[in-house]
Amino acid sequence: MSVAIDLSGASALVFGVANHRSIAWAIAERLHAAGADLTITYQNERMARGAAALVEGLERARAVECDVLDEASVETAVETAAAAAPLRAVAHSVAFANREDLAPGAFGATHAEGFRTALEVSAYSLLPVARAAATRMTEGGSIITLTFHGGEKVYPGYNVMGVAKSALEASVRYLASELGERGVRVNAISAGPLNTLAARGIGGFTEMQRVHAERAPLKRNVTQEEVGGAALFLASELASGVTGSVVYVDAGYHVMGA
Ligand SMILES: NC(=O)c1ccc[n+]([C@@H]2O[C@H](COP(=O)([O-])OP(=O)(O)OC[C@H]3O[C@@H](n4cnc5c(N)ncnc54)[C@H](O)[C@@H]3O)[C@@H](O)[C@H]2O)c1
Repeated sequence: MSVAIDLSGASALVFGVANHRSIAWAIAERLHAAGADLTITYQNERMARGAAALVEGLERARAVECDVLDEASVETAVETAAAAAPLRAVAHSVAFANREDLAPGAFGATHAEGFRTALEVSAYSLLPVARAAATRMTEGGSIITLTFHGGEKVYPGYNVMGVAKSALEASVRYLASELGERGVRVNAISAGPLNTLAARGIGGFTEMQRVHAERAPLKRNVTQEEVGGAALFLASELASGVTGSVVYVDAGYHVMGA
């Protein structure tokens, strides 16, 4: 039995590239290197140039604008990816919460608007992505989202984003259950803290990274590339029996009790 991962002839769509540090970009690079035709999305005009520069010079790759709150733009992104080759893999690597809601001690002060925004962008948006993708994954496929341990345990400063990640992980299970009979698998990767644009908005992030490196079984932080590797596995036939799961790429931090 061959274990080489070959995604040539398949299309992969990755939502949420802000820059070269984005987890989305690490996933995109891995899927593309495995042979997939690649479509990445960026949120708005402000990020257009950066996203275009990342795919410039790459064969079978393109960048399209997509705000996940606009269902029509999600549809367009999925259509673009599916037009290039049969859609096999979709990664949802998108999250947002208002900065004032991400300060240590600020959780109880979160207002309805901030709560709604965090939940809508960071959890609900997986649903339109999965709806649009699943209808085009006629031969089955893999949908992957990104979560964090703050959805299970308290990280002061992660706050409403923790609530959003809990909702996201529950959504993964419900979607996996509904889409399984079509051969569409849905999983989350729970990544350890990584220095990205989104991470910098979280109060206490540097401390979070330090504590993870100190206490994790592997005694270090993880890299974007390691998250990309897990995404490639989940996108591939090697993971054909895996759905509804949260796969931890966190140097083992989540198993520690003391
Ligand atoms: N960095 C970490 O420590 C870490 C750890 C675990 C999980 N995650 C998760 O990984 C995912 C990617 O984050 P990242 O750390 O790579 O940071 P990032 O800032 O590079 O990516 C976040 C992306 O979300 C996009 N986004 C926000 N609102 C959007 C909207 N309305 N429409 C479309 N896109 C929108 C941003 O434009 C950006 O591209 C997020 O779900 C994040 O919660 C991050």
